[in-house]
Amino acid sequence: MLDKHTVLEKNTSLLGAAILLVVAIGGLVEIAPLFYIENTIEKVEGMRPYTPLELAGRDIYIREGCYVCHSQMIRPLRDEVERYGHYSLAAESMYDHPFQWGSKRTGPDLARVGKKYSDEWQRQHLIDPRSLVPESVMPPYAFLDKKELEVEQISAHLKTNVTVGVPYTPEQVAMAKHDLQLQAGYVLAEDFDGFEERWPGVKYPAFMDKQQITEMDALIAYLQVLGTMVDFDSFDTSDPDNMR
Ligand code: HEC
Repeated sequence: MLDKHTVLEKNTSLLGAAILLVVAIGGLVEIAPLFYIENTIEKVEGMRPYTPLELAGRDIYIREGCYVCHSQMIRPLRDEVERYGHYSLAAESMYDHPFQWGSKRTGPDLARVGKKYSDEWQRQHLIDPRSLVPESVMPPYAFLDKKELEVEQISAHLKTNVTVGVPYTPEQVAMAKHDLQLQAGYVLAEDFDGFEERWPGVKYPAFMDKQQITEMDALIAYLQVLGTMVDFDSFDTSDPDNMR
């Protein structure tokens, strides 16, 4: 057996070809199964696509470059889990296009910031961070509270997400503008019909008696949902399938 191996060892070209063959087999074993499964992300209960209002807020988050200072990915390391909560699951960003993981943390990770503070705290903090956290280096975003949210494009935005695999229903797409206004508590959107069926479990209105929906409202709705969709108290962490 070893005698035969000397043939390989004495002939570089043959050795090269043999190495290529062995590596190719290894590569195939890893890559081939990926062509036959639909998704590499395991479904987790509770995950749903963003509502139109949350999605609009996410746009503001990206436009303002919040990701430059904030990550949205809790790594499975003890110090991170103790500070921020359960480490992030792949499924938690399955509807994010593009995802907001990041690695730059001038500010804290925001993957589970939803419901950590009240809406009023978030608003005041965004208007003037140093009024609540005196040592903060976060810039103020007071102008968002005055700027009216652009809502005409929201159906098209949902539709675009559908093309990259987000399972919005045709009704959710068609009613996007109405549902955005309804969730924001806009006084002129009083037709509640079907909201609960289209967005099960979504609490509305998020704000009260809004005469105008601002970019700040949408951003807060987005921040408040981060990390809140999966119920980790009922999540079985002893199941090795959940540890991926
Ligand atoms: C220049 C870096 C920087 C930018 C840009 C920035 N932040 Fe921050 N952010 C911070 C720092 C530092 C803190 C921690 C101090 C504080 O709470 O103000 C923070 C804290 C926060 C908190 C509180 C987190 C917690 O768990 O206490 C939220 C929410 C937040 N930022 C949201 C945003 C949003 C939304 C944007 C974009 C509109 C943004 N930040 C842009 C630096 C930044």
